[in-house]
Amino acid sequence: MKYIAAAALTALSVTIAAGSVAAAADEAKGKRVFNSCRACHSVAAGVSKIGPSLNGIFGRTAGSWKKKNDKLFPYSSAMKKAGKGEKPLVWTAETLKKYIAAPKKFVPGNRMPFPGLKNEKKLDNLIAYLKKATK
Ligand code: HEC
Repeated sequence: MKYIAAAALTALSVTIAAGSVAAAADEAKGKRVFNSCRACHSVAAGVSKIGPSLNGIFGRTAGSWKKKNDKLFPYSSAMKKAGKGEKPLVWTAETLKKYIAAPKKFVPGNRMPFPGLKNEKKLDNLIAYLKKATK
């Protein structure tokens, strides 16, 4: 009886460990997906490259990131416009996925030179990574 209980407990803890490994793996995979972004984007606060910093991207309005000197990043007028008006575009897991999947389609006229990433699994992994890394 004792043996069975112990075996059950072991099985349970193995299952729990496997669960957390799976979650961590997604993020780690997402970090690798981010390799196709990092030439142009940093997740660090205040750091812009060819593209704006992605720090604090969740909940941020499109085309609104300012440099340390308080100057707006030189966005295209399409991206600035997307963040204005009656229904401003706000970056969430959902809108980010749509944008990264097809940048030119989701924000027509924006000038992010990225062809798009269609793979749903990779997109989810990327979002998992960004959620943590951009805090
Ligand atoms: C070759 C450079 C380049 C690559 C690669 C690139 N981006 Fe961009 N990104 C830009 C530029 C430039 C802009 C600004 C576009 C504009 O103003 O129209 C931008 C804009 C964005 C925005 C909107 C930011 C805001 O403040 O509104 C997000 C989000 C974003 N990129 C995420 C990503 C992610 C995630 C990847 C990788 C899958 C990626 N980008 C790959 C250059 C790049």
